[in-house]
Amino acid sequence: MEPIIYLDNAATTFPKPDIVHETVFNFYKQYGVNPGRTGCDLAIIAGNMIHDTRVKFSNFFNKSLVDTGKTKDPNRMIFTMNATMSLNLIVNGLIKPGDHIVTTMVEHNSVIRPVNHKVREGAEATYVAPDGEGYIDPEDIRKAIKNNTGLVIVNHASNVTGVVQDIKATGKVCKEEGVPFAVDTAQTAGVLPIDMAECNISFLAFTGHKGLFGPTGTGGLCVADDAEINQTFAGGTGVKSAYPYQLEEYPYRLEAGTQNLAGIAGLSAGLDWVTGKGVENIHKHEMTLFSVLQEGLSEIKGVHIWGTKKLENRVATLSITVDNYDPSDIGTMLDVEYEIQTRTGLQCAPLIHEHLGTTPRGTDRFSVGPFNIRDHIDTAIKAVAEISARRN
Ligand code: ALA
Repeated sequence: MEPIIYLDNAATTFPKPDIVHETVFNFYKQYGVNPGRTGCDLAIIAGNMIHDTRVKFSNFFNKSLVDTGKTKDPNRMIFTMNATMSLNLIVNGLIKPGDHIVTTMVEHNSVIRPVNHKVREGAEATYVAPDGEGYIDPEDIRKAIKNNTGLVIVNHASNVTGVVQDIKATGKVCKEEGVPFAVDTAQTAGVLPIDMAECNISFLAFTGHKGLFGPTGTGGLCVADDAEINQTFAGGTGVKSAYPYQLEEYPYRLEAGTQNLAGIAGLSAGLDWVTGKGVENIHKHEMTLFSVLQEGLSEIKGVHIWGTKKLENRVATLSITVDNYDPSDIGTMLDVEYEIQTRTGLQCAPLIHEHLGTTPRGTDRFSVGPFNIRDHIDTAIKAVAEISARRN
């Protein structure tokens, strides 16, 4: 069997660095107790690892504060299962019936669905449309803001087109309009530098298993020190057990129950791996391969590229269709005949497909990661060319 060519890094990065696997195994084997629930040495070491990881992530997403000697409260770095859980905490913690949410047609269902649930309960929402390439104009966000707007929530990079939105300009708009700004960084955390303070981000949702190379089932929500959010679920915190309600203070305000200790250890190792390599270097490697992929695919008769073809303000994710083929058939042929892994369909982001005109069958999506090499890209281009030539 041919070795697999993995071009589905927008779904999850694969493989993960060895150090992540080793850390998950070793940390959990040595310290796999319940931190915050007992005072034994093992629990203290486990608790310290979790706290140190909070500090690392707080600093990672707030470099401008760290560089100017300011502190960011690490307890406002909340561990969650994934970006979806973080986004649900944001929407549910801020929006009540009668409130208005501004979001975009570029969003993933991890935003669209919680927002729609709020609308069903009496809130309202505006989905701002991007231009033909997939970019949102921050001034369109401003125009959508009303007196009752309680949240602006924007996807940093589209998991369909790879388009990266201008979150700095959008954050400025939100600051001027006095509305909390939340960013879904599922496709960008660890891939592009992100600075909460510079972009006026009140709530940053991230996943651990993509650009941060942690295990699946890890993620987080970083809350700015001046942002307010209500808790939406409650449970054990290991401290102040006699208090009948969820604690007000962070991280307990938004965290309850036993932590994913092995996952957080792996996530911490993943972040170290990323910072060791350098976010910019990883992105440069991915974009070098991506430009070859995009150019090669765009020259094939019958192939269409959806969204921007720019190489700036984007991540290494590309959606294509091939004339006379259903996208899912392309994905299956790439997989079965060539051992190339991609993702087909609507990629859980139905509104951007509606906007692009690729509804209902969607696209075939290629997403490049740090472990891809030039040979993978050449093989993928050749495979698509052969498949397309059968019908075009
Ligand atoms: N949201 C992930 C993707 O785009 C799973 O594939």
